[in-house]
Amino acid sequence: MHEHDPIEILMHEHRVIEKMIDVLINVTRLIEKGGSVDIEDLKAITDFISTFADKCHHGKEEGLLFPAMKNRGIPEEGGPIGVMLVEHEEGRAAVRGMREAIRLMAKSDATASKLFTRNAWRYVNLLVDHIQKEDNILYVMARDVLSHEDMQKLLTEFERVEKKDIGEGVHEKYIELVERLWKKYVSKQS
Ligand SMILES: [Fe+2]
Ligand SMILES: [Fe+2]
Repeated sequence: MHEHDPIEILMHEHRVIEKMIDVLINVTRLIEKGGSVDIEDLKAITDFISTFADKCHHGKEEGLLFPAMKNRGIPEEGGPIGVMLVEHEEGRAAVRGMREAIRLMAKSDATASKLFTRNAWRYVNLLVDHIQKEDNILYVMARDVLSHEDMQKLLTEFERVEKKDIGEGVHEKYIELVERLWKKYVSKQS
């Protein structure tokens, strides 16, 4: 799918991440209503965010796309690339908060739910906005400045990252996870 265009690959990953964000929104609302959510599902959501959204997707942006854009004269400082990098870091901080909350939940700590929901909303609000900015501003800019050769090179490097750094079949495993949790928490609730 979308094997010809690296920007399409990244945009497709955004759609998968958005689906998990919908799951996270409903799970967070459930917790706020005092409902119980399987702790294994919370772990699976943070695992998805750390591996699929951060290591795999943000990794491709930080390690390959942004450097290619800088190479074509887009500065990191004072521009959208710098903003995106800061937002990736903010996302990581929110996920650390969610993980800490899950750890406390396992010990039945009374503050755990609040800590989870606070960091979950922080992540949701940040990422929804972040994805919009990339789809509508940064990726448009990338298409403008990158040559056909740059694009081909990105495509090859994306494939290498998926196979060597992430591991064969891992991407597919996370797609299945999103579908399973989406069926459980989103399609049944709406
Ligand atoms: Fe990003
Ligand atoms: Fe992105």
